[in-house]
Amino acid sequence: METVVSGIRPTGNLHLGNYFGAVKSFLQMQNEYNCYFFIADWHSLTTSPKPENIIKSAHTILAEYLACGIDPEKATIYIQSDVKEVLELYLYLNMNAYLGEMERCTTFKEKARKQPDNVNAGLLTYPTLMAADILIHKGVKVPVGKDQEQNMEMARKFARRFNMIYGKEFFPEPASFSLAAQAVKIPGLDGSGKMGKSEGNCIYLMDDAETIRKKVMKAVTDSGPTEPNSPKPEAIQNLFTFLDIVSTKDTYSYFDEKWNDCSIRYGDLKKQIAADIVAFNAPIRERITEYSSNTDLLNKIAKRGAEKAHESANKTIREIREIIGFRS
Ligand code: TRP
Repeated sequence: METVVSGIRPTGNLHLGNYFGAVKSFLQMQNEYNCYFFIADWHSLTTSPKPENIIKSAHTILAEYLACGIDPEKATIYIQSDVKEVLELYLYLNMNAYLGEMERCTTFKEKARKQPDNVNAGLLTYPTLMAADILIHKGVKVPVGKDQEQNMEMARKFARRFNMIYGKEFFPEPASFSLAAQAVKIPGLDGSGKMGKSEGNCIYLMDDAETIRKKVMKAVTDSGPTEPNSPKPEAIQNLFTFLDIVSTKDTYSYFDEKWNDCSIRYGDLKKQIAADIVAFNAPIRERITEYSSNTDLLNKIAKRGAEKAHESANKTIREIREIIGFRS
């Protein structure tokens, strides 16, 4: 069975964009692949040396993953910092990563620009840590967003380079499994673009009914169609995308007809979308609350995940030590 690896930085709550992007793919992949889904808490140190309550942030993602249906019996779910073998591989990969190529990475340059007072070596070597995350399990498929493409190219480069230097086909080259190509793109509610944390236009799985209503009612619209059967401008198409994912087909057709004969009332459309998002979120939200209140269970699941990840990671490290020539 092929190995899938994917990490997420614990930077808050999951939103609908995460759900219909990464999480839904994970739900499918866990049935078909040997999956490792981990929470990249070490990576968060690259941007802030003193993250507030790092365990709680990791537990938030863990509880939300579980509530969405990621199953620890099927996939290995763990917290990166629990699996220390990753660091050893990070070190080996760093020995063969060159300053010039690391400095040229656009993500590094961007982050360096954003935090000029903290251009640390961890930031520079973010791609080697990410490569270590993947290669430690000899991952071959990595579901990631488009923004991670350069990091993935680096991971492939480091894998090839390791194989070259030690003259052994040891690491398989990890392929990106593009989430964008797979998933429905969830728009923001601000008229254009996608739902994203940095865009500040998210509906979170944990949002309550009132919050969801407020956010949806504020969504950008226009003055309405002036001619029957006209194409929908982006902001309106975005609302229909929401209908498409959270409402029934009948509801979609109902509003589509109203659009086409120019009798649509955006207020009604938004109320419907809000109600259907609330209904969609409700059971997930309930489960998140349950898991979040059960720290013992979360700790147990994280511990079991770490054990399974450790087993796979330790095997890789033992092989590498032998390849490089350390005492095994
Ligand atoms: N860099 C990824 C992001 O910001 C998170 C990540 C860290 C990751 N390690 C990984 C993703 C390994 C896939 C595989 O989204």
